[in-house]
Amino acid sequence: MSRKQKFLAVFLGTLVVFFGFVVVRVWALKPPSTIKLTAIPAGEYDPAVWGKYYPLEYQSYLKNKETAPSPTGYGGSVNVQKAERQNEIYTNFKGNPFSKDYTEDRGHPYSIEDLLHSKRISPASKGACITCKTPAVEQFYNEMGWVYANKPLSELIEKSKHPVSCANCHDPANMNLRVTQPGFIEAMSRKGVDVTKASRQEMRSYVCGQCHSEYYFEPGSTKVVFPWDKGYTPQEMYQYYADKPNGFAQDFIHPDSQTPVLKAQHPDYEEWSNGTHGKSGVSCSDCHMPYMRSSGQKYTSHWVTSPLKNINESCLPCHNQTSDQLYNQTKAIQDNTWQLQHTAGLTVARGHEAIAKAAAVPAVNQTELNKARELLRQAQWYWDYVAAANSQGFHNSVQELHTLGQSIDLANQAINAANRAAGTNTL
Ligand code: HEC
Ligand code: HEC
Ligand code: HEC
Ligand code: HEC
Repeated sequence: MSRKQKFLAVFLGTLVVFFGFVVVRVWALKPPSTIKLTAIPAGEYDPAVWGKYYPLEYQSYLKNKETAPSPTGYGGSVNVQKAERQNEIYTNFKGNPFSKDYTEDRGHPYSIEDLLHSKRISPASKGACITCKTPAVEQFYNEMGWVYANKPLSELIEKSKHPVSCANCHDPANMNLRVTQPGFIEAMSRKGVDVTKASRQEMRSYVCGQCHSEYYFEPGSTKVVFPWDKGYTPQEMYQYYADKPNGFAQDFIHPDSQTPVLKAQHPDYEEWSNGTHGKSGVSCSDCHMPYMRSSGQKYTSHWVTSPLKNINESCLPCHNQTSDQLYNQTKAIQDNTWQLQHTAGLTVARGHEAIAKAAAVPAVNQTELNKARELLRQAQWYWDYVAAANSQGFHNSVQELHTLGQSIDLANQAINAANRAAGTNTL
């Protein structure tokens, strides 16, 4: 071979390797090509019936029943009490049912069972609690509109035969992704987003966002409302709540400090949306529902769990690091977040004690005392936004560490203000 021929051979060889690599990468990200459609009737909520037509998806859905700790030791699929590790939960949620029962979340098939056994529900609980636990919410809303939210919860649990499953995310007629949770659809509409016009990649996160989000119940109607009108950051959502939307002022008043407290509820969608992956268009499903292969057939994994159980399928289609490196990086983010979260939680707890102590002083300065309560309300919200979200900081490490820093600072300011109110501190 001449030098020219050699050069050409090397050049062509390089091209083949490079494009071969690109084709394999792109193909790995592409969805399974053929889905045989079958006529599953509207209102069929039993995943076993859907599973007859889509066995690979159904088999992987059934794996959601596995109960095991997560690879990192954070989160996990065992319904342990969170307070075992975070003692501050008893103090910070005193007077609220979350101080009695607050378990780690587990797989979707347990959603109704875990609601039924929760010590947080009582005969007075409202139907709104069923909203993110079953596909039957579609039927309740079609029949009654938001009136369902004010019905007794026990009545609706009885009518909800199936936990979170196929019909929550799929239109049975064509298997397209869909959202049915009315509170999510309304919140998006207030932001000018028509969910029926969403792209496929957007839907791959919207299906999760309809449930994995912060919400409150509108006083009176018990309607589920997402506090998104000002944005998704903890600061923007705090500002939204500061206006007492629809007459909603707080979730509970702390019995010791008399602080009006907001209880955060799993803001996973919000946390992710401003994070590295959310901003880069990486959907929840990209990590939590990766593509798998069975006897040459490609399908979407419906085992929605810690992506670290399948780093090869969940992360390596995009990342060049080794799976060990990615695991260690994730674990380091979580360890750092955990440390600050625990410090923030304990400082907030000391805030409640300092305010209670100051309030018992006969000549207490009421203006300073109220200032302390306002500071503590913010500090607790910032702590809880991170603590109630499920990834232990991974979905948005920079925001979460910043939020916890603010929480610690505000809680210390609250303690100082309480001591000033009591005349025991001149800071
Ligand atoms: C870039 C990948 C990635 C994306 C995108 C992502 N997650 Fe995660 N998620 C993770 C990792 C990693 C963890 C931590 C798992 C662990 O600790 O083992 C996690 C944890 C969770 C958990 C807690 C799991 C448990 O063990 O209790 C939930 C719930 C969750 N994510 C929901 C979502 C939702 C909803 C979205 C989209 C709004 C989303 N995630 C987007 C990677 C991702
Ligand atoms: C939490 C939401 C969710 C639930 C619950 C769910 N799916 Fe899916 N499903 C998805 C997502 C996301 C995809 C990927 C769709 C895409 O990218 O277009 C998918 C894809 C599919 C596909 C297309 C083929 C494939 O594997 O990608 C089938 C078939 C399917 N699901 C069947 C089911 C069945 C059967 C159930 C109930 C046992 C179910 N799904 C429950 C979210 C869900
Ligand atoms: C209809 C509401 C609903 C939808 C839709 C939904 N989830 Fe969930 N999810 C829940 C509830 C409720 C739980 C907790 C169940 C329990 O603990 O009994 C949960 C639990 C989880 C867990 C914890 C599992 C474990 O083993 O610890 C993960 C991870 C998760 N969801 C991710 C997602 C992702 C990703 C999507 C979208 C692809 C999604 N969810 C869609 C309601 C929903
Ligand atoms: C669909 C593509 C995609 C997938 C899947 C994905 N990532 Fe990423 N990841 C990205 C992009 C894009 C960035 C931003 C890279 C940059 O700016 O250089 C990123 C950044 C990161 C970072 C650094 C930023 C941060 O938030 O700390 C970590 C860590 C990370 N990814 C871990 C993971 C893990 C763990 C998984 C699997 C659970 C995963 N990623 C899955 C695309 C992806």
